[in-house]
Amino acid sequence: MTLTPSILATAYRLACFLFLRVIPSPILQSVIPALLSLYLLSVSLSSKPARGNANPAAAVIFSLKTPSRVIKMTNIAINSLLFVCFLDLSISPYFDDAGDVVFSRIGALSDSSAKVLVRYPKLNETIHLVWRESRPNTAWSKGPTLVLEEENDWVDTVTLSGLWPSTNYEYALAGTNSSLLAYPASPLSFRTFPDPNLSNGNSHFRFVASSCILPNFPYAPLQSRRIKGFDLLADYLFPSQNVVNATYGHNTTEAPQPDPQSKHSLPASFLLFLGDFIYADIPIYFGNHRDNFRRLYRRNYQSPSFKKIYERLPLFQIYDDHEFLNNYAGAGNDSIQPYPGASDAFQIYSGRANPSPPSSTKSLDHVPAYFDFRYGDVAFFVLDTRRYRSFPTDSSEEKTMLGEDQLSRLLTWLGKANNTATFKFIVSSVPLTSLWGHDAQYDSWAGFVNEKNTLLNALHTVPNVFVLSGDRHEFAAIQFAAPAESTFAVTEFSTSPLSMFYIPFYRTLSMQSSETITKTHTKEVIYNASTDATAAATPEDKATISSEGVASDTGSESAMIEESEPVVFKTEFITEEVPKEQVFKYIPDGNYKWSSIEIDTRDSQRPTLKLEVVIDGKPSYHYEVVGKPVNLQQSTALGAFVTSNMKDILKKIGMQPSKWF
Ligand SMILES: *[C@@H]1O[C@H](CO)[C@@H](O)[C@H](O)[C@H]1NC(C)=O
Ligand SMILES: *[C@@H]1O[C@H](CO)[C@@H](O)[C@H](O)[C@H]1NC(C)=O
Ligand SMILES: *[C@@H]1O[C@H](CO)[C@@H](O)[C@H](O)[C@H]1NC(C)=O
Ligand SMILES: *[C@@H]1O[C@H](CO)[C@@H](O)[C@H](O)[C@H]1NC(C)=O
Ligand SMILES: *[C@@H]1O[C@H](CO)[C@@H](O)[C@H](O)[C@H]1NC(C)=O
Ligand SMILES: *[C@@H]1O[C@H](CO)[C@@H](O)[C@H](O)[C@H]1NC(C)=O
Ligand SMILES: *[C@@H]1O[C@H](CO)[C@@H](O)[C@H](O)[C@H]1NC(C)=O
Repeated sequence: MTLTPSILATAYRLACFLFLRVIPSPILQSVIPALLSLYLLSVSLSSKPARGNANPAAAVIFSLKTPSRVIKMTNIAINSLLFVCFLDLSISPYFDDAGDVVFSRIGALSDSSAKVLVRYPKLNETIHLVWRESRPNTAWSKGPTLVLEEENDWVDTVTLSGLWPSTNYEYALAGTNSSLLAYPASPLSFRTFPDPNLSNGNSHFRFVASSCILPNFPYAPLQSRRIKGFDLLADYLFPSQNVVNATYGHNTTEAPQPDPQSKHSLPASFLLFLGDFIYADIPIYFGNHRDNFRRLYRRNYQSPSFKKIYERLPLFQIYDDHEFLNNYAGAGNDSIQPYPGASDAFQIYSGRANPSPPSSTKSLDHVPAYFDFRYGDVAFFVLDTRRYRSFPTDSSEEKTMLGEDQLSRLLTWLGKANNTATFKFIVSSVPLTSLWGHDAQYDSWAGFVNEKNTLLNALHTVPNVFVLSGDRHEFAAIQFAAPAESTFAVTEFSTSPLSMFYIPFYRTLSMQSSETITKTHTKEVIYNASTDATAAATPEDKATISSEGVASDTGSESAMIEESEPVVFKTEFITEEVPKEQVFKYIPDGNYKWSSIEIDTRDSQRPTLKLEVVIDGKPSYHYEVVGKPVNLQQSTALGAFVTSNMKDILKKIGMQPSKWF
């Protein structure tokens, strides 16, 4: 009985620690105030004075009852401070709403265009973009006018077009009298993608992929605007902090160049952000109104950590569940809450800055969030795995993650990319592998078996396919074995979080699937009939032993060999069972993770992909793979692939549509 307050206080402190440093779970969010109230209640009820003197350290750690006033005050201070931290993490997102944040960033780039997103609230004048090539003595050109209205949270996205490929540009903002505005203080730079017509088999670039950020988690006092993962990423990408030293209206320096001393002299071309950019429901869900979502996007842009990235690195971005709610499924019905408010905020701050949807999109008010783009001879398809996905309660045969339209577009794209792109990246916010347990069994592709198999079968017919995913707050590299001869393995890299919790000790990833596939491969051996032994054949053996199985250098010798040593050269068939899915690298720990992927297709016979996984700022894993050479064709010859009927697409790639359709 006398120990009750101590137990409650210790439980309260433990819950605070878990909430602030390990996982900001909504359960702890409600448990913490309850534990504190119970503790205070139990203290007020137990009026018995303390007997004897506890060890002071124990008295502080376990909140033991003590006659010492100093220890009492220490305990009150600790418990109060913890509660202040708890409130800071929970509700500072509501009060620090970043309403005045001014920012700009580059979104989608191509060989000839750039999308520019600008927020400039409550201006009384009309402003427009000015832009120029990043060369000395180049005059500004007047760019598009921005429509900044409260309805769109003072944000607009405009497109600069007619640009040269592989060229450095810079832009700034100008008012009605053409004087530059206070922001950006110096022009922001970007570089257009290479000309796809010239870059067949000639790309060399790097990009970064990750997902999941929550400002100031793990929690530190007085840091509510910090997103440490972006600080680490900025140190990694721009090690010399090469600040562009230019003032508005004057000569500017060239676009920022990376430090040549750095190990990574190849600058990153863009960041692929795979979702959970905001956590609408963690720790507190403030409701379905669009303002509750917009506020969280603004807060990220207000972060000085993120600013170091978005002012220098183009961003392609898709949502995952926490832009809506945990494990969100939209079921293709845009009227169901919280889709309207959540998607309004996503479109304003991310969606409109992504590559534009195909012009053949069904209706104007149905703008898909999924998109595809190319960098030289490398093609990317970024999936929307949330808006169209069936409810988890739907029957498993009919369940879809992508919806029919998106799946058919993806397969059409795959058919085109098959022989117009050397590497193909499928970007999926949730993992394709079924090896993660826990809620991944229904929230990732594991819960969509039919659709996953259809997709995977198609992917296996295409060389050099890589899947990029996030969501699990762990890193894993997974191989999906090629199911048959003349098909290809598929590799997945799942990387997260960029700046959020990871769960220590508790592991749910299986290292391989129990499902296997039978692989048959051939092996050339030398069989010696007299000894009944086989040995591996070397190229020299092949030269001296004829295809009939008899050595045939000269007539007489050959006959001798035939009699004395009946050596036969033959092909053996070897079958083995291999797991369908197999993990070949697993790094669960770390609050800050990203993958840097370098592509080099300059040698068309040896296209390579180099992966560097960075954990907590330190390069922690390297993987290099040489892809299959691809005989690239110009995309104009591809009319034949374009069809909207999924059954046709599946037939074209040699698949029998299952009864699923
Ligand atoms: C814009 O105009 C309104 C009314 O004309 C004025 O109250 C406000 O201060 C102005 N804002 C700025 C930034 O000049
Ligand atoms: C242009 O407008 C800015 C503010 O919008 C003002 O500070 C500046 O004096 C103006 N310049 C001229 C030449 O009118
Ligand atoms: C690339 O080739 C296509 C088809 O020939 C053409 O339409 C397009 O304008 C070319 N792009 C560039 C950047 O030259
Ligand atoms: C920018 O240039 C000015 C004048 O040339 C110089 O004094 C200043 O140190 C430079 N700043 C940086 C960050 O390089
Ligand atoms: C820009 O720099 C060049 C050479 O560095 C100089 O001749 C020119 O006067 C400068 N222009 C302005 C507007 O400062
Ligand atoms: C979409 O959801 C809304 C609101 O729940 C419902 O009224 C409507 O019938 C649904 N539409 C379809 C096509 O299911
Ligand atoms: C890719 O090309 C190969 C060889 O031409 C073909 O067998 C396969 O079906 C194609 N895959 C798709 C998805 O178009």
